[in-house]
Amino acid sequence: MNFPKADTFPISVMRERSMGPNPLKLCEELLGLASIPAGSVVLDLGSGAGLTSALMARECGFVVYAADLWSDPSNNMRFFEECGLTNRQVVPLKADATALPFARGFFDAVVSVDSYNYFGRDPEYLGEHLLPLVKRGGELLFAIPGMVRDCHDDPPACLLASWTPEQLEFIHDIGWWRANIAQTEGAEILDMCEMACTREAWADWVACDNEYAVGDRVAVEAGAVDHLSTIAVRLRRR
Ligand SMILES: C[S@@+](CC[C@H](N)C(=O)[O-])C[C@H]1O[C@@H](n2cnc3c(N)ncnc32)[C@H](O)[C@@H]1O
Repeated sequence: MNFPKADTFPISVMRERSMGPNPLKLCEELLGLASIPAGSVVLDLGSGAGLTSALMARECGFVVYAADLWSDPSNNMRFFEECGLTNRQVVPLKADATALPFARGFFDAVVSVDSYNYFGRDPEYLGEHLLPLVKRGGELLFAIPGMVRDCHDDPPACLLASWTPEQLEFIHDIGWWRANIAQTEGAEILDMCEMACTREAWADWVACDNEYAVGDRVAVEAGAVDHLSTIAVRLRRR
């Protein structure tokens, strides 16, 4: 696949700052499902080390709030400056997705790459904590790591090569996510589909040399990606 926006980042930077399957490619494919205009105020939820925030601010012209629980906002800010971005274009902050410090209706859109499954598995989450922060008519785009088919009762050995059954509880198939999200009044499902770049996003991730990528490599080399998907979700706040 072609990724003109993701490709503006050196591979060394992608490898240094990724926390899972190539977030730049996932983000670019996800954004292609919608048409969020330049100048939109966008929440990057679970932004990690800031790759997707930098892509959206620099390559799409959004004003991005890069909100993440585990990452250091000061480190992310230095990265944004190295990308040529200012604090008018991207705002790094430490925040818990279940206690976001924003006014209702503040955001034009929300994007979340490889993070929603940490907090969004609670079917109450979307309606209670996230949707109210988006303007009516605003869109929410998630790229969620998933399974081709839920197999929690009898996970294949290749998945168990890197992940425990407890870790696998964080990933589900598209039907599970549809049932989860459909419960939220006020969220119109515009699209849910499996993303085309999953396989190459995983290949890019396991070529990284951090300990998490090296750990995941065992499963990928055993064939895990045949069972994995990435679920794109496009919602509109009614
Ligand atoms: C697998 S990493 C993905 C990070 C980044 N989006 C990327 O693709 O590289 C998952 C991210 O979810 C974030 N996260 C987990 N629980 C969270 C919560 N309750 N609130 C905010 N962020 C959370 C973590 O801080 C972590 O950066």
